[in-house]
Amino acid sequence: MTTTSYPRPDHATLAVHAGREDLTALGLHVPLIDLATTYPMPTIEAGGTAYDTIGAGERPDGEATYVYQRLWNPGVDRFERAVATLEQTHGAVAFASGMAALTAALLAAVAAGKPHVVAVRPLYGGSDHLLATGLLGTEVTWAEPGTVRGAIRPDTGLVLVETPANPSLDLVDIAAIVAQAGDVPVAVDNTFATPVLQQPAVHGATLVLHSATKFMGGHGDVMGGVVAADHEWTALLRQIRAITGAVLHPLAAYELHRGLQTIHVRVRAQQESAATVAAWLAERPEVSRVHYAGLPGGDPLGLLGRQMAGAGALVAFRLAGGYAAASALLERLELVTHAVSLGGVDSLIQHPASLTHRLVADDARPDADLLRLSLGLECVDDVLADLDKAFANLP
Ligand SMILES: Cc1ncc(COP(=O)(O)O)c(C=O)c1O
Repeated sequence: MTTTSYPRPDHATLAVHAGREDLTALGLHVPLIDLATTYPMPTIEAGGTAYDTIGAGERPDGEATYVYQRLWNPGVDRFERAVATLEQTHGAVAFASGMAALTAALLAAVAAGKPHVVAVRPLYGGSDHLLATGLLGTEVTWAEPGTVRGAIRPDTGLVLVETPANPSLDLVDIAAIVAQAGDVPVAVDNTFATPVLQQPAVHGATLVLHSATKFMGGHGDVMGGVVAADHEWTALLRQIRAITGAVLHPLAAYELHRGLQTIHVRVRAQQESAATVAAWLAERPEVSRVHYAGLPGGDPLGLLGRQMAGAGALVAFRLAGGYAAASALLERLELVTHAVSLGGVDSLIQHPASLTHRLVADDARPDADLLRLSLGLECVDDVLADLDKAFANLP
């Protein structure tokens, strides 16, 4: 008898089906939403075994199931399996927000007796602030992509980078950072790229972080975070999540899991608009610089194609008129919403120095002439018309 072997499905296909493989056998088409905070125990022994299994970061498969929502729950488990498939890691651990996910990764380094973190700026302002305050017992050394090796110490527990970085949209060579880090685990914040465009674990990252609030949810109505990692790390992060109570809510897990089903079409369409808007901005006399890897000269390390499949759905740009021009532009826009966050179906624009990066140290805060624009799913001509109108007679 011959068997036919099929190639691994395309990533877009996986995004639709991952974490849903058992549904048909269960007679279901979409996952059930299980909001239980606790689960009945058939016997003390079965409950204890389930506790131990979950405590070790494994899925309970005995008579007892998930024990207690904060420890783990079926909706979160499904979303995590889907993320792990898309990021090509052993597993994933989902949190109530992106900041809770980063907190757990930092606490893991502290718990291992390695509280020193090497971080490449720029980072999201909240991440920068968390590290700068040392609130969790970490100590940070800020590095450039080329100075990571020299910043590593015997007590370094983590190297943290974002690529594309928030808000400069600089691309960082993940494999080059991993080579410099040696034995120290590298955590890559993949929020801006999404697993559609980039899978950092393939380039050697140990931890892949996401603010799932952004492209994974995709509609601006659900908050979450997730870390994709190997077996050892997922077990450790689940333990930390359980005792710190930072688990994702099951309803949020359902929404995020559903968001993954459309993430390919959304990110690709939003990226197409970003490329169009970036090219348009590059021609405007009011704009002194456009930050977008897809523009000529925008990818000096040649990472597009090699590390990232496209330049993404965000554009940053500088106004020749500085802060006054930025402020006027934001007040005039009508279709594009002046708001923080990104990755949703509607276009959002914001002034990083005043908002998302407000708490960053003076010498590292983005310049006052910089705006960050996240393209949504509107017809790009309408976005351009809104920008064009707002650009008229800018200071
Ligand atoms: C790149 C990046 N990482 C992490 C976060 C934090 O995520 P959350 O807001 O879900 O806590 C953000 C938020 O904007 C972000 O932009």
